Amino acid sequence: MNFQIVDLSIQKPHPILRHYGSRWTIADALKVRTDDPTTTLPPIAQNFPVMDDKVLIWDTGALRDIHGRTVTFKGWHVMWSLAATCISHADSNIAQEWQSRNNSAFIGYWYSRDGLAWTWGGRLLQQSADLRPWEWSGSLVMREGTDATLDMFYTSCGYADTARTDFESVVSVSTGTIRSDETGVWFDGFSTTTEMFQADGVNYANEAEDAYWDFRDPHIFRNPDDGRIYALFEGNVPGMRGDFIIGDREMGPVPPGYQVGSGAQYGAAAIGIARLKEGAYEQGAFSGENWELLPALITSLGVNDQTERPHAVFRDGLTYIFTISHHSTYSGGLQGPDGLYGFVSRDGIFGPYVPLNGSGLVLGNPSSQPYCTYSHFVDPQGYVQAFINTVPAPVPAPDNPATYRIGGTLMPTVRIALNGEQTFLTEVHGYGQIFAQSAWPVSNTPDARQVAS
Ligand code: FRU
Repeated sequence: MNFQIVDLSIQKPHPILRHYGSRWTIADALKVRTDDPTTTLPPIAQNFPVMDDKVLIWDTGALRDIHGRTVTFKGWHVMWSLAATCISHADSNIAQEWQSRNNSAFIGYWYSRDGLAWTWGGRLLQQSADLRPWEWSGSLVMREGTDATLDMFYTSCGYADTARTDFESVVSVSTGTIRSDETGVWFDGFSTTTEMFQADGVNYANEAEDAYWDFRDPHIFRNPDDGRIYALFEGNVPGMRGDFIIGDREMGPVPPGYQVGSGAQYGAAAIGIARLKEGAYEQGAFSGENWELLPALITSLGVNDQTERPHAVFRDGLTYIFTISHHSTYSGGLQGPDGLYGFVSRDGIFGPYVPLNGSGLVLGNPSSQPYCTYSHFVDPQGYVQAFINTVPAPVPAPDNPATYRIGGTLMPTVRIALNGEQTFLTEVHGYGQIFAQSAWPVSNTPDARQVAS
């Protein structure tokens, strides 16, 4: 007879964590259906247009106000994107450049007159702002009460040492001023970075607990209920990686005889929230002492290890939280497509939340193109924007069954109807199209460009 010695001392929940927020349970995730027409993105044509031949872009967001509305500035539409420069999208090395893009990611920007045809503006942050090698996702927000101040909340990350053993990921902000004339948009400032907060190992897993921890992608908003400023971000449940017990609360109402799949305890995603001190936003006082890390709003123990780029939409008295997740980060044998997931609360930002559509899936890639699009962002009108990742060839070459085209540009914008606990795909628009909901209230006087002497 074989005896297995189980160390029960490690099979306990994290001693400090008292609050798991609302749960995305295994029972919820068992309802995920790939290719349901109401929650599946349209396939992308192989001949999709590229916004700029010299740049690969992925996570993207429109300039917005603190209430989440997409805004224009003096008639200009503006977007930020994570970017890596390239020789050309047609270059033979493009797949490799795309695979390694995270190692050179910077935040760039686009501007457009009509929200459809975009001009690449280059870097948004000056290089002097970089405290670490890479700039990862966040949000670009017009500062309320100002006429042209912008805050780029983002993730300052990368290896702090050349041996690449010490990965740091700090939620940060850089501030600047938007300028424009009849020919385009540019910025002043964005020359320094303020660190806001990082994983504390108490409310959110840090590197000591979980070598694969995620802590990034700040989304800043004013909560309509209490008027306070909050940040949502991607995190993980605190505790030693893999030490979680997947019990009844994580499983939810599963079918009779359901057995938790092996490796389920490695799924530990958390949607995090932090609160800014009263009065600090108006002064642009974003440094660490002004933030309070609060327990996670939604956790996915036993289900999935990553819920990225979480963002809030306030509609019809309901609070929606959308996030993006991968097929590859599901745990315990659960399955679901790469795409957009979401939750809704009837009682404000602190929940409780239920998964949208019963399962949490809002828009998945079709099974014919499983990795086609990613990093979906929903605005308060239900428009959803994302980037094209890889589009498989309709008829793969016999000697290379994996033939695909690299994206690095925006997909057609789609729209979803938000009907309480249900969502429906209802509209498909142009590639990269942005619909502004309001204009930033400033005079139309063009700014003077500084001419180098
Ligand atoms: C989502 C994401 C973000 C991160 C960025 C890095 O696509 O993984 O969480 O900030 O991409 O490229």
